[in-house]
Amino acid sequence: MFDLTGRTALVTGAGQGVGRGIAKALASQGAKVAINDLFEERAAEAAAETEAAGGTAIAAAFDVSDYDAVVSGVARVEAALGPLDILVNNAGVPPGMGVGQFRESKPADWRKQIELNTYGVMNCSRAVVNGMCDRGHGRIVTISSGAGTVGIPLGVSAYGAGKGGGIAFMRHLAMEVAGNGVTANTVALGLIDNHTDPEVTAHMAKTVPVGFCARPEDIAPCVVYLVSDEARWMTGQTLQLNGGNVTT
Ligand SMILES: NC(=O)c1ccc[n+]([C@@H]2O[C@H](COP(=O)([O-])OP(=O)(O)OC[C@H]3O[C@@H](n4cnc5c(N)ncnc54)[C@H](O)[C@@H]3O)[C@@H](O)[C@H]2O)c1
Repeated sequence: MFDLTGRTALVTGAGQGVGRGIAKALASQGAKVAINDLFEERAAEAAAETEAAGGTAIAAAFDVSDYDAVVSGVARVEAALGPLDILVNNAGVPPGMGVGQFRESKPADWRKQIELNTYGVMNCSRAVVNGMCDRGHGRIVTISSGAGTVGIPLGVSAYGAGKGGGIAFMRHLAMEVAGNGVTANTVALGLIDNHTDPEVTAHMAKTVPVGFCARPEDIAPCVVYLVSDEARWMTGQTLQLNGGNVTT
């Protein structure tokens, strides 16, 4: 696809799902990958799977919504793999995340979403961006959601607010570092097949123009392109990767 040999990457929330697929894809293209997750065992299992497939990967458990934990986590990763060239801010679903109408919600529910989806992106970006600028090269990609760009009546307003904050932040970050060889882009996803209830997935798929929900392997190639050297002209963008669910 695109050669990432010699590059180092950190993918957050990569113990399962979309992030795990992205981490595996980056490793398959030659990058050395740190697999972050809140849960140590998930990160370790994903790193072992990536290594078994022939890649280089380490587990890096820390909470992206805790700035001090991020700074020390990134320091540990850089001591093990070398300076980070690539950051993929993928963590975005708080454990046990439920849905519910805003009118019945509490500030504690919103806080979790903003802390993970806005501050999590800012924390990790802040921890790596100065090194990237000093070295004159870096790639930051944030995995977001259509819920961050359009209103939907599914009870995800706080999640959407957190995602929207991340999207806006990424646009500004891109402008601030564009002259330093660092790009910053967002990929706003549509409906993903999370291997939960096949009936729910089949029902959701009916609302997707292409007729199916995405698998991690439908997302990862887009990220591989965005973090490649070839994507140096692509920055400040929010790509809608959603099977045709056109959003604005
Ligand atoms: N699943 C969907 O339908 C969908 C749709 C649109 C966008 N997205 C976005 O795609 C990304 C990946 O989603 P997914 O469905 O693969 O999620 P997932 O829940 O399957 O996996 C997310 C991982 O992130 C980890 N995580 C959660 N909080 C964390 C924290 N504070 N620090 C570190 N790790 C943390 C979790 O432990 C989990 O392993 C997220 O940003 C999500 O918002 C998902």
